[in-house]
Amino acid sequence: MYAAQHLLERSDLAVEIDLYERLPTPWGLVRAGVAPDHPEKKLVIDRQFSFALQDSRLRYLGNVEIGRDVRPAELAEWYDAAIYATGAASDTRMGIPGEELPGCWAAREFVSFYNGHPDFADLKIDLQSERAIVVGNGNVALDVARILTMPVAELERTDISDQALAALRDSRVREVVLLGRRGHLQGAFANPELEELEHIPGVEVTAEGEDLPDDDDVMLDGADWTTRRKLDTLKRLVRRPSSNPRKRIIFRFLSSPVEIVGNGRVEQLLVARNRLERDAGGRLFAAATEEQEVLQAGLVLRAIGYRGDPFPGLPFDTRRGVIANLGGRIADDGKVWPGAYVTGWIKRGCRGIIGSNKRCAAETVAALLEDRAVGRLRAPEIGRDSVLAILRDRQPELVRLDGWRRIDHAERSAGRELGRPRRKLTRTGELLACAAAEQGLHQESSR
Ligand SMILES: NC(=O)c1ccc[n+]([C@@H]2O[C@H](COP(=O)([O-])OP(=O)(O)OC[C@H]3O[C@@H](n4cnc5c(N)ncnc54)[C@H](OP(=O)(O)O)[C@@H]3O)[C@@H](O)[C@H]2O)c1
Repeated sequence: MYAAQHLLERSDLAVEIDLYERLPTPWGLVRAGVAPDHPEKKLVIDRQFSFALQDSRLRYLGNVEIGRDVRPAELAEWYDAAIYATGAASDTRMGIPGEELPGCWAAREFVSFYNGHPDFADLKIDLQSERAIVVGNGNVALDVARILTMPVAELERTDISDQALAALRDSRVREVVLLGRRGHLQGAFANPELEELEHIPGVEVTAEGEDLPDDDDVMLDGADWTTRRKLDTLKRLVRRPSSNPRKRIIFRFLSSPVEIVGNGRVEQLLVARNRLERDAGGRLFAAATEEQEVLQAGLVLRAIGYRGDPFPGLPFDTRRGVIANLGGRIADDGKVWPGAYVTGWIKRGCRGIIGSNKRCAAETVAALLEDRAVGRLRAPEIGRDSVLAILRDRQPELVRLDGWRRIDHAERSAGRELGRPRRKLTRTGELLACAAAEQGLHQESSR
């Protein structure tokens, strides 16, 4: 959407854009990744994107999967240029014994579940144990810890999926342990996300594994303002008086997962205590000591990073988990593919907040326009009407703008009755039926 926006903003260009999406619904992580208790973020972006989608130069083509319904080689023939912004559908694994046991999930799966992504909406995530362990100290780890500990009454006012609400109402999780392989000063979480933990009613936050230093501690020498603010928040959090807390979040620093143990399902996590060492470049890394401990837990969520999957028909950089590219131009072994571009997490790896993608898309669009200016783009071999005819033939349940609007309207209306921003439709069949309702299926829409 940011790439499309950058192109649409260029009033000197006679640009026309087709926006392909595998799901019936648009917006990617804004819909399926941003936590439900962050409605203000979604609202702002939703408004911006909805405005762009109204532009008559942009056609929405939902429920079409590139690689299945259309090949990248065909896109190269149908358009001057194709920009791939397919994100990260996979995640980094811990690589420890027992990771396959039921009860061990990727945080990505849990996030997609509670956000009602159709591929994950009916996951059976068991929340019946007292303790859950989240491996990782990034923003995703904090998101899932918050959702696991927030009062359900608060979640009932959000757009969290009905299935997740039901599971959380029934949850017996009382303690969430956040396992950080390095120390508190190296936490990958951002300050606003950490500070939010102060506002979860009835939740006590503690820190284990290392002592939080005083401000004049030698480790703070050279620490930047952001790191100092994190430390201040952590100290404030752990010093808060708490009487009879409803739930607890425990930061356990300098701790790495070693093995998941259980008879047919997750029962325990063996954890190694680490110490910090410096590599040749001066970066602090976690080195395991001999000291180990067993933590009882029925749920382990790994939140140690997302990863992009290889994309059929495009060169892939396996090491980085991205479509191989040079500054946004798709490139195989350093050789640029004319007219093929990439943006977002599948271009640069899974780092950065949503706004980072705006800058990332600007770089890609600049590369595209530069290539156009020097005549590197090939004119399309067929017109837009022919493209639409082919798509309708291959995917009779193509979702157009009016279909998405019907879904959006239905979800908002259903939500309004319950005091929620929207009540999401979470199954592909329901979404397609809603998109096709009334005139949708049979009456041709001009857009
Ligand atoms: N609210 C928001 O704005 C928001 C919400 C969610 C996500 N995001 C963004 O989305 C991106 C991805 O977030 P993320 O949380 O998935 O990733 P992340 O920020 O890269 O954090 C990954 C965490 O996992 C740890 N880790 C990595 N490999 C490990 C291993 N083998 N064993 C134990 N720990 C390991 C890392 O520790 P080390 O530091 O030691 O490597 C780090 O603490 C980030 O840029 C994040 O800021 C933003």
